[in-house]
Amino acid sequence: MTVRCTLQGDVEVIALDNPPLNSLGLDTRRELVAALEQAQADPDVAAIVLTGSGRAFSAGADLHEFGSPRAGQEPGLAGVIGTMERASKPVVAALHGLALGGGLELAMGCHYRIVAPGTRVALPEVKLGLLPGAGGTQRLPRAIGVGPALDLMVRGEQVAAEALVGIPEQKLFDQLARGADTVLDEAVALARSASRRHAAGAPLPRLRDLPCGHPQGDAYFQSARDAVRAANRNFPAPLQCVDAVESATREPFDVGLAHERERFVDLMRTPQSLALRHAFMAERSARKIPDVAPDTAQRTIAKVAVIGAGTMGGGIAMNFLNAGIPVVMLESSQQALDRGLATLRRNYEAQVGKGKLEPTRYAQRMALLTPTLGYADVADADLVIEAVFEDLGVKEQVFRQLDAVMKPGAILASNTSTLDLNTIAAFTRRPQDVVGMHFFSPANVMKLLEVVRGGGTGRDVLATVMAVGGRIGKICVVSGVCDGFIGNRMIEQYTRQAGFLIDEGCTPDQVDKAIEAFGFAMGPFRMGDLAGNDIGWAIRKRRAIEKPGVRFSKTADLLCAMGRFGQKTGAGWYDYAPGKRDAVPSRLVLDMIERHRAELGLTPRPIDDEEIVQRLVYALVNEAARILDEKIASRPSDIDMVYLAGYGFPLHRGGPLHYADGVGLSNVAKAMERFAQNPHDDAGFWQPAPLLRRLLAGHATFASLND
Ligand SMILES: NC(=O)c1ccc[n+]([C@@H]2O[C@H](COP(=O)([O-])OP(=O)(O)OC[C@H]3O[C@@H](n4cnc5c(N)ncnc54)[C@H](O)[C@@H]3O)[C@@H](O)[C@H]2O)c1
Repeated sequence: MTVRCTLQGDVEVIALDNPPLNSLGLDTRRELVAALEQAQADPDVAAIVLTGSGRAFSAGADLHEFGSPRAGQEPGLAGVIGTMERASKPVVAALHGLALGGGLELAMGCHYRIVAPGTRVALPEVKLGLLPGAGGTQRLPRAIGVGPALDLMVRGEQVAAEALVGIPEQKLFDQLARGADTVLDEAVALARSASRRHAAGAPLPRLRDLPCGHPQGDAYFQSARDAVRAANRNFPAPLQCVDAVESATREPFDVGLAHERERFVDLMRTPQSLALRHAFMAERSARKIPDVAPDTAQRTIAKVAVIGAGTMGGGIAMNFLNAGIPVVMLESSQQALDRGLATLRRNYEAQVGKGKLEPTRYAQRMALLTPTLGYADVADADLVIEAVFEDLGVKEQVFRQLDAVMKPGAILASNTSTLDLNTIAAFTRRPQDVVGMHFFSPANVMKLLEVVRGGGTGRDVLATVMAVGGRIGKICVVSGVCDGFIGNRMIEQYTRQAGFLIDEGCTPDQVDKAIEAFGFAMGPFRMGDLAGNDIGWAIRKRRAIEKPGVRFSKTADLLCAMGRFGQKTGAGWYDYAPGKRDAVPSRLVLDMIERHRAELGLTPRPIDDEEIVQRLVYALVNEAARILDEKIASRPSDIDMVYLAGYGFPLHRGGPLHYADGVGLSNVAKAMERFAQNPHDDAGFWQPAPLLRRLLAGHATFASLND
């Protein structure tokens, strides 16, 4: 049972009891209607209280049900709410913890609502590409006013109940309870007094009966629509919220409700909603590691050490300081330490300057930081993260030192991007304690953390690092050991295709614009100029020694030979006016490209945007299929998460593999076969990966491999 009923005198208390957050799946909905009908029929019951057991009133719909036949089965949530609203006995909702989405809509169908202080309230449906579909768009504007209601729906963020209680003349909450521990008793008392008033002839208040309007009428909705459209270019749901709320102001309640329903059903089928729901589930799935039990005992992480205070070390340290975890930061020289500290301070001061960080908080964070030049100061850290130069010799020196000084049980992590974690682990006598923590730059901003599992990494170490990643606000995805791990191994193929496109006839600007129109924040060439083209140059030079068979377009090397490293040198794939970041196509670069084509004997051909996008995105897909086959990633949705959280893949497309499923894998494979015939390109790469071929043969999708 997911609903429990107890009689308190003449008040029936119906408690949602569906841990962890009382989601409103089909069983719960059925039991709720049965409980309501029984309370209605029971002559000993004068009034009803609806509450939630455990941590929350209700976090809303059961997302696992979305798209399944259960979602469509009666009673739907709107039906449950209708039953409650029509009840002839007063129904009081007692809210605590969370009242989100369908949970809040359920409460709005009750006659009265009492809320515990600190309750978090939201209509977050837009985050899944939807709008509130159980009356929320019609009842909330009547309860708190059109402007505040629309704001809540369009942003989808949680707010404290107190903020809504403070809205003048709001009708959402009848009472703010004294405390979370008294809210139920206060609700029972409210129910009793309501039943007395009702018995004396007072009608039961219903939000649906309240008037709804905005004093500025059309003008308000016009400007709301403009603002919402501008802020949500790729997502239709927020604009649909505006339309639905406008209906609430113009149409009778039941007509508005019917329109809301139609809009909800339409949105449910949009690719954007499918993508957002996929991303939501992917983020949760990524926390699960197939052979690491969720209850694996974790190590305590109360103190962290960071080795190296460069670009990455400083950002990594900030993550922990922001989460209130003390950090010791070690450098090899006083000068480097001072430089690292100055950068870290500058970053915080910029946040203070923008009003994003309170000066007192800045001081608290800095007080948690201990700079040092001596290993004795890091020895008692629970977790040490190495972020020194990307050079195996330097890493060896550091890890041998750490092995010698760190207390037993300390976790030794490396932020290496390209070196073999197993080789690094072998520098120590404790490979079970060694793990990769691959942060992305800027490390204090980027959400993605690839947790790299070495051959010997302990399960408890993995579980601990995943949890610590969560504490510092990262989205953690586990990757096995391979060159580039999940993200960079795939991006290399994307970048290679970008280079070949240039050789074959594109300009950098054409490639960038095509993929930006697809939805990437920045195309590969603008990105190269931002990050520094010399980084890839150094990697390719090393590659030429290690992996002589891998071909790249030579244009990137020729660019670097011209000293055009990107924005930092004022010139890269594009020209930059001094102090400006606007990328201006460069005649010099276009001439260099043309000379190179002539040397290759390639006649440039017209290449359309569709081919550009397919070559770049399907290169990601094919490499991802190999990564899955090699068990470097646990599931396709982990790869999508890496790309959404770390590489700017457009969220409304749900990640490369979700996108490929949507295009149809047979279409993807056909395009790959076409590209494989390109005589200039690296034909071997375009053979569809074995996993892709197996999926095609079984008429299956990448999604079928998700859990
Ligand atoms: N920059 C990126 O975008 C990025 C992204 C992910 C991972 N990484 C990885 O992070 C690591 C650091 O990269 P970075 O960009 O911060 O480099 P960086 O050159 O900015 O910083 C490295 C720092 O390490 C210090 N250092 C060198 N040897 C040391 C030693 N023996 N003991 C203590 N400190 C020492 C240097 O003084 C320098 O301050 C590398 O392994 C790199 O591959 C970099």
